[in-house]
Amino acid sequence: MPEKMMIPGPVPVQESVLREMGSQVRAHYGAEWVAIYKKTVELLKLVFKTQGDVYILVGSGSSGLDAAIGSLTASGEKVIVGTNGFFGERLRHICGGYGLEVIPVHAALGEPLNPSDFKEALSLHPDAAAVSLVHLETSTTVVNPVAEIAAEANVNNIPTIIDAVASLGGIPLAMDDWGIDICVSASQKCLGAPPGLAPIAISQRAWEIMDTKPQRHHGWYLNLQTWRQYADEWSEWHPYPVTMPTNNVLALKTGLRSLLADGIEERIERYTKLALRLRDGVRKLGLQPFTPDDQLAPVVTAIYGPEGVPTGEIVQYLIEEHGIMVSGGLGEGLHDRVFRVGHMVPMANEEDIDAVLAGLSQFLQIQGL
Ligand SMILES: Cc1ncc(COP(=O)(O)O)c(C=O)c1O
Repeated sequence: MPEKMMIPGPVPVQESVLREMGSQVRAHYGAEWVAIYKKTVELLKLVFKTQGDVYILVGSGSSGLDAAIGSLTASGEKVIVGTNGFFGERLRHICGGYGLEVIPVHAALGEPLNPSDFKEALSLHPDAAAVSLVHLETSTTVVNPVAEIAAEANVNNIPTIIDAVASLGGIPLAMDDWGIDICVSASQKCLGAPPGLAPIAISQRAWEIMDTKPQRHHGWYLNLQTWRQYADEWSEWHPYPVTMPTNNVLALKTGLRSLLADGIEERIERYTKLALRLRDGVRKLGLQPFTPDDQLAPVVTAIYGPEGVPTGEIVQYLIEEHGIMVSGGLGEGLHDRVFRVGHMVPMANEEDIDAVLAGLSQFLQIQGL
C-alpha cells in the first residue's frame, strides 16, 4: 500500500468515509434507509448544480456513460463525439456497441476540443441524436470547454451527454446553467468516495427525447427509464431497480457532505494552488508540464519525463523508493512520455506536492540529470 496515493482516481478517502465502508451492512430498502438515499441524491443535485433528476447507478463511471448513450439513442442514429484522448475514445466505443454512427470531432493531442469544430459538425449533421464529450480528459489532463460546446448543441436543439467522471466536484461545472442534458460522474474521484457508484443527472429534455423515441431497445439494467420507473413506483421503500450497496452510498454521502462543507469553489481553489505549486516545482527541476498553465486542470497534472527516460521508470522509482504512487501516461503518444500526478484527493496538501517534487529531484540526481 503506498503511503501517498496520488493517481488521477481513485483517491484515498477520509477517515469518516472509510468508517461508513466498514459499518455493518444495512437493508437497502425501507423508510429509514430510503431517507438516507434520497438525502444523498439531494446532495448530488447541489454538486451537479441541477434541478433535474439524479440517480445513483450501481457500477463504475463507464456504466453511467453506457446508460446515458444507450438510453438517449436508437441504433443507427448519429452521435457527434469529441475525441481528444483515451476517454473520448471510450465514448466512441460505447457508441459503437450500440450500433450508432460516430461523427468524431478531433483535437490534437494535448489540445482542448474546439467549439467551432462542433458548430461545423452540427451544421453538417443536423440529424445527430446527441453530442458527447469528456469534460476533464484524464489521459491528457485537458479540460474541454463543455459550456461553449453545449451552447452550440443547444442552438441546434441537440442534447449533450457529458463525461464528468473526473471533473465533478473538482472543476467548475453547472449542469443546468450550461444546458447539459445528461451528466455522468463516478464516486471515486473528486467526490471523495470509493469506486462503485455512478451518479447520473438527467434533464427534462432528455426524458422527453427518451419518451418519444419508441425504437430504442437498449436493455434493462442501464436503461434510464428503468431507474425512473422504480424511483416513481417504489419511491417510498426501494426507489431503484437493484440492491443498492448501502455502505457505498453512505460513504458517498459522507464524501459529498465534506465537499459541500468545504465548498466546491474553495476546493477547486485549493487544488489549483497545488497544481501551480507542482508546475512551478517541476519547472525548477528542468521538467515541463504537458499543458500550459492557463489551461491547467486543478485536479491532475501531466508532466513530460526527461528526454530519453521512459516515464514508467519515474513511476516505479517514486513508489519503490518514496511510497508515492503516481500514474504513467495513458493512451497513444503518451505512454512513457508523460506521467500524471493526481491532486484531487480531498485532504491533498502542499506537503504531498513537495514530497513528489523531492522524489523527482532525487530521481533526476540518480540519473545524473
Ligand atoms: C474522464 C474519465 N472518464 C471515464 C472514466 C471511466 O470511469 P470508470 O473506470 O469508473 O468506469 C474515467 C476513469 O478514470 C475517467 O477518468
